[in-house]
Amino acid sequence: MALGKTIYVAALISSFVYAVAVNNAEFTRKAFPSEFLFGVASSAYQYEGAYAEDGKGLSNWDWFSHISEGTGEINEKGVRYYNDLINELLNKGMQPFVTLCHYDIPQALEDQYGSWLNQRIADDFARYAEACFEMFGDRVKYWTTFNEPNVFIPVGYETGSYPPQRCSASLWNCSAGNSSTEPYIAGHNLLRAHAYAVDVYRRKFQADQGGFIGIVISTLWFEPLTNSSEDLEAKDRIHAFHNAWYLDPIVLGEYPTIMHKFLGTRLPTITEDLRHKLRGSFDFIGLNYYSALYATSASYLENSPPRNIYRDSLTTLTEERDGIPIGNQMYPPSMICVPYGIEKMVNYVKTRYSNPLLFLSENGFGNKGNDNLPLLQKLNDTFRVECIQNALKYLEKSIRQGADVRGYFVWSLLDNFEWVFGYTSKFGMYHIDFTDGLQRYPKLSAYWYRNFLQGKSESHTEEFLTDFTKKHAGNLNPITAEA
Ligand code: NOJ
Repeated sequence: MALGKTIYVAALISSFVYAVAVNNAEFTRKAFPSEFLFGVASSAYQYEGAYAEDGKGLSNWDWFSHISEGTGEINEKGVRYYNDLINELLNKGMQPFVTLCHYDIPQALEDQYGSWLNQRIADDFARYAEACFEMFGDRVKYWTTFNEPNVFIPVGYETGSYPPQRCSASLWNCSAGNSSTEPYIAGHNLLRAHAYAVDVYRRKFQADQGGFIGIVISTLWFEPLTNSSEDLEAKDRIHAFHNAWYLDPIVLGEYPTIMHKFLGTRLPTITEDLRHKLRGSFDFIGLNYYSALYATSASYLENSPPRNIYRDSLTTLTEERDGIPIGNQMYPPSMICVPYGIEKMVNYVKTRYSNPLLFLSENGFGNKGNDNLPLLQKLNDTFRVECIQNALKYLEKSIRQGADVRGYFVWSLLDNFEWVFGYTSKFGMYHIDFTDGLQRYPKLSAYWYRNFLQGKSESHTEEFLTDFTKKHAGNLNPITAEA
């Protein structure tokens, strides 16, 4: 009985998926250069758990810091954990890419001196980076200093929606902060920290260890809402404020001219000494890409203090043009799947920075979890397959046009903790049952990615449904009611 119902539902779902799969069956990793790297991305805070075990200190996300007092003794158990992880990846033939700071930092540094608002953090970060190069650099060949500073600095110091929750009280609901100045000060100290860490790597480790170092930026593609010169200029402004804020200093040694023009003295000065360290302080750049938005001029904001990052660029962002959405909305709702933007974004970076070596360090699709759905529906993530597959097609196109992209990583392997959205947003290619011992279930996208990587054009859908039926035949009653 249960099996009959299963097959009924499976047939329905399979005909729906088929339309997507047929067109894309021949598109596999063979379309990419043979040495191109494919992988998945994750982060410590979002995956590890055990926030107060084995001597871990709290981070500003109330979490694990690997050096428990922020700057003191190294936690040997933390080191062992990462040694085991790195060794296991290498044993399985996988190349680890390590990010030194993915949003969270020790709370102790916040308490001691205000973390990113204080210059001291650059030296502390460089010391921490040096310890990591020393302990893991014999095996880790790809390092990035920071993940998405152009996200975690503005949300920490401009809107105050992430730790340390600072912003101007007149703009948002924070107990302290200054949205007009602090994001730029914190960002400046972060650039210092990046420059110092790269400097240490280059002086002391790179020649012997033979690795590479870079930074990961969150990219958003911006289309002008109309062809008016005002909107075209607004598009350039928001590109500078979002995409180039950190990349211009690291590649060219200076903040974007547009930021100088609109911020004046609120933008800290890059001294000669810092410029010397910053310019060219990367071997590769990681681009995280998910979304695109329309940009339109908001020049009316010019004389209305208090200023903040979004007001400073005098731009309004919208998700629709003439009532038509720019792409498929994800969850978090601010993220929208716009595959063509990946090609445009890569070309923007290629042109602006003279074709640097790139990795597409994150791309994927988040959807809103619904615990009440039957398991099969939780796993049948056609929307994710479609979004990722289309993004890969546009990425491949940019490589054919000459962009030097060397790898692509899906965010994410497993469903995990999506920051302020907690566990409600699902990015994994594996569903995790958080109510049942963290059991893992491969979604359709896991089957698709495996076949794609193995260069197979067979239907991942059939395989997925057959496996599902075998494993969960007795588990499908609720779905019939909904079907
Ligand atoms: C950006 C971040 O690096 C990661 O932490 C986040 O979970 C994903 N993209 C999805 O929002």
